Amino acid sequence: MAIFRGLLLAISAFSLSSLANVKVSYLGCYEEHPFDPLFPEDFLDYREHIDWSTYPDMSHVVQACARVALARKFTYFAIIKYGVCVWGPNGKHVANVAEMSEWCFHGIGGIWSVSVYKIAKACQEGVRTFDQCGQRCTCVGGRLVNCVRIRIHEFTYFLPWHRYFILLYENLLRRVDCRFTVSYWDWSARPGSAFNTTAARSIWSSENSGLGGDGEGIYSCVQTGPFRQDVWSIVPLPPGIPTGPGPRCLARMFFGTPPDAVAVQMVLDVHPRNFSNFEFMLRVNLHDLVHCLIDGTMCTIDSAAAPEFFLHHGFVDKIWDDWQKKSETHKNVFFSNLSQRMPGTPVIPSVVLDLSAQPGGVRVEYRPILRVPSFQAFSGQGIGPPRKPPRKRYTPLMDKAFKLFHLNETEIKRAKEMEKMLEPKPRTIKI
Ligand SMILES: *[C@@H]1O[C@H](CO)[C@@H](O)[C@H](O)[C@H]1NC(C)=O
Ligand SMILES: *[C@@H]1O[C@H](CO)[C@@H](O)[C@H](O)[C@H]1NC(C)=O
Ligand SMILES: *[C@@H]1O[C@H](CO)[C@@H](O)[C@H](O)[C@H]1NC(C)=O
Ligand SMILES: *[C@@H]1O[C@H](CO)[C@@H](O)[C@H](O)[C@H]1NC(C)=O
Repeated sequence: MAIFRGLLLAISAFSLSSLANVKVSYLGCYEEHPFDPLFPEDFLDYREHIDWSTYPDMSHVVQACARVALARKFTYFAIIKYGVCVWGPNGKHVANVAEMSEWCFHGIGGIWSVSVYKIAKACQEGVRTFDQCGQRCTCVGGRLVNCVRIRIHEFTYFLPWHRYFILLYENLLRRVDCRFTVSYWDWSARPGSAFNTTAARSIWSSENSGLGGDGEGIYSCVQTGPFRQDVWSIVPLPPGIPTGPGPRCLARMFFGTPPDAVAVQMVLDVHPRNFSNFEFMLRVNLHDLVHCLIDGTMCTIDSAAAPEFFLHHGFVDKIWDDWQKKSETHKNVFFSNLSQRMPGTPVIPSVVLDLSAQPGGVRVEYRPILRVPSFQAFSGQGIGPPRKPPRKRYTPLMDKAFKLFHLNETEIKRAKEMEKMLEPKPRTIKI
């Protein structure tokens, strides 16, 4: 008895003259549900049918399907049985399995088999273009190469360990949707409204695109958005057990004001000879502080379970990347000398130093935020150089953060000294 599970990969590619700039490749065929669970019914869109009998032959059916799939922005489609055309966005899931079977070709149009096709936009030589996973690539010889994952704004081992952690998390979620990248939340851009849940494009919005707002009640559970108390818990619960209020909900207690862009710039300006100061300020004065300004889950050892954890760490990683870009010395300082594997990982820090050459051949780029030109708003008025807007004080580091991140007395003292350097100085105005 043979359970058929056949798939032939990239056997042929036929160009279809009526589909300019598009290449349709036959990926192979597989057995129809319920016999092959690889490509379950959900992935196919059975609502749309093209009646094959109105087309002269198979290549016309393929063309018709490709045209419709393309119009619907799908990159894969499937043809199920003769006479009916079906397409869906997730044909890519099939391409992971490459078991050969003679049946495959015989099976086109057969009772149980479904043929899967991939549509690729032919690329223009030398032109930068995006692939179906949203990576920015270059077209060389008709193929997309040097693809870069773009991470956007939007929302000891500390630095390299978290960079690796972000990569693993991103790789995992890309198995669900290959367009996923970790975003970053630049809390320094408008520190005064960092926790304003109704401000434009707030990451704390209650919409599905937001992370929900502040916590409420005795446990400070988040009550809005997709991670609200009733529907989401920081530990998976057995089916049927409600999250309920309590320590398992996602908690937040917004408090105070994060460091501003000037403080971030001062950290970026640290000389590579003073790497230890750079690392300390980024880790303690910026990173630790913002964890505990969000507070709740983010200021506990469960913080990585909070959805905002990776947005915060994306920004911390971006600050490190911005610093690294200043020179080869900035890029390699300290970490390139460490030969021990980072705790809980199979890698040493040097393998993650270059964001454009991460493990697995992944290239990453943080897209810069388009800053609201608050400085420009002050320029062009009157004579002389543009005046900088006055800085606002930000919240000092608190005991809670020192405790959570296990800082000893010496380090607490150092953190307070650094804070004095970074925070705005009182101004004296000469009249
Ligand atoms: C939050 O943002 C909204 C919209 O920009 C604004 O109207 C409101 O005054 C802000 N609230 C606070 C407390 O700053
Ligand atoms: C390093 O930092 C110290 C203060 O901590 C400062 O005096 C020194 O000038 C800095 N070195 C460089 C090269 O910037
Ligand atoms: C790293 O190694 C280089 C060359 O071996 C050495 O010159 C440098 O001092 C080391 N840096 C640190 C921070 O240990
Ligand atoms: C505090 O921690 C630092 C870094 O871990 C360490 O080098 C230092 O010896 C510690 N100081 C005290 C007083 O424990």
